[in-house]
Amino acid sequence: MNEWLRRGISFGNALDTGRDEEPRLRLRERYLDDVRGAGFDTVRLPVRWSAHADASAPYTIEEGFLERVDWAVDQALRRELTVVLNLHHYHELQAAPDRHEARFVALWRQIAARYADRPGRLCFELLNEPRDAITPAAWNHLWPKAHGAVRASDPDRLMLIGPARMNDADALPALELPEDDHVIATVHYYAPFEFTHQGAPWVPGADRWLGTTWGDDTDRDAVRTDLTNAANWAQHHGRPLLVGEFGAYERADGASRLRWTAFVRSEAERLGLAWCYWDFGTDFGAFDPQRDAWRTPMLHALLPP
Ligand code: BGC
Repeated sequence: MNEWLRRGISFGNALDTGRDEEPRLRLRERYLDDVRGAGFDTVRLPVRWSAHADASAPYTIEEGFLERVDWAVDQALRRELTVVLNLHHYHELQAAPDRHEARFVALWRQIAARYADRPGRLCFELLNEPRDAITPAAWNHLWPKAHGAVRASDPDRLMLIGPARMNDADALPALELPEDDHVIATVHYYAPFEFTHQGAPWVPGADRWLGTTWGDDTDRDAVRTDLTNAANWAQHHGRPLLVGEFGAYERADGASRLRWTAFVRSEAERLGLAWCYWDFGTDFGAFDPQRDAWRTPMLHALLPP
């Protein structure tokens, strides 16, 4: 396992919302204390850079937005948390990678230059869940451009790259990673999807799955097999692997959610994989911003007392 990443949580729906959209989570300094105090090692910051940059070359990122991201990065680093800073929800790139390649690369060139002086605990994840027109072949063409843009100003920065098909571990064999010791692989784990995404409004037909429970021997065997396959890939390729997102939507049966979360987390640990829960404080949240407190059973599924 990578010693820096270990146990993490994503601040989803904070810096990854649209330009004129109210973030569903407002980041506060206190939350970073809460995360550190609970015993997490890592925070993942999903960022929708594409909503805050010019549409034409040189694709300048707005200074005001950069300052918001600086604040989050530096508050986390100050608490000795590892930070996974990513590029999230660039839907136009997913739809037309050729048309957006130059902009994608320019975003990373600016991000890398901005943070080149930050400690090594700041890591970059090149793209959340490549999908749609970013086929495995298109992704193997695209990520090296962003990787090169980062390396131009930052030779050692740890980078995370996940496979196409929404970072599904089954797509790992098609992912070609560079000869670069500072590149780690990342996958997302939401299986069975009918369980983890039941009732999720952004998934067509997900209401039909409401009432799906989880936790018998067959269910456990399936998770164990999936994660073992991912860990075997990592071992075979000599790459540390992060389970960079996993979680079950809030409308799933509570007891099943806790069982699934604790099991995925403990299997990841048994296999030597770092993990990062989705998410901190919105619809998968381990923390309840209304009550301003952890949802203790979920916190304990992640970090047993
Ligand atoms: C997306 C979120 C979504 C989560 C689970 C994340 O990558 O950004 O919007 O809630 O995956 O589907």
